[in-house]
Amino acid sequence: MLSNHYGWLHQGPWNWLVLMTLMLAGALIRHSFVARHRALTEGRRVPWESAGAGVVLILGLVVAQRPAPVPAHAGAAAAPGAEDKVNTSVSYAQMRAVVDQHCIICHGLQMQQKTVALHTPELLGQHALAVYQQVAVLRLMPFENATRMTQQERDLVRRWYEAGAPVR
Ligand code: HEC
Repeated sequence: MLSNHYGWLHQGPWNWLVLMTLMLAGALIRHSFVARHRALTEGRRVPWESAGAGVVLILGLVVAQRPAPVPAHAGAAAAPGAEDKVNTSVSYAQMRAVVDQHCIICHGLQMQQKTVALHTPELLGQHALAVYQQVAVLRLMPFENATRMTQQERDLVRRWYEAGAPVR
């Protein structure tokens, strides 16, 4: 569940730490609930401290995992009509090369994972939004990064989409 739907949780450099923190927080909270039953039957105070510590850990994780602020100039460069837009836009040929190298083994004529095929200009255009989301936003594709796509190539996909996803 986590890997399919919450890529941002496990694809960062600290993914192991995120997992350990979540497990520890879960154990701490669970501990309070187990202890609660005994405390109630023995007429003692319920030890909520460990549950509190678990909640604090999760809140800490939320703060630590928040997205980095986007620098002001990055937004300006991507704005429509910006001066340097012509220089940063990507041609169909450049995009085709990246797709052929990184996607076609699983999304071509023979193999069409999730019925997504990208081997013709028409098909690529048809799936442009999904391609952009999967590669540049969610970073879920290439699947498990099987074809070892670089950040520069992901940026290229983003710029191709922002340039109107040209397919000729
Ligand atoms: C190693 C095989 C593999 C490679 C390489 C790969 N994919 Fe996928 N792709 C999959 C699988 C498997 C699924 C279905 C995943 C799922 O259902 O969770 C999928 C699903 C998709 C989907 C549909 C997602 C959805 O949920 O609707 C898109 C779009 C996609 N891939 C695009 C790409 C693009 C673009 C590339 C290249 C940058 C790529 N894939 C590379 C295996 C791959």
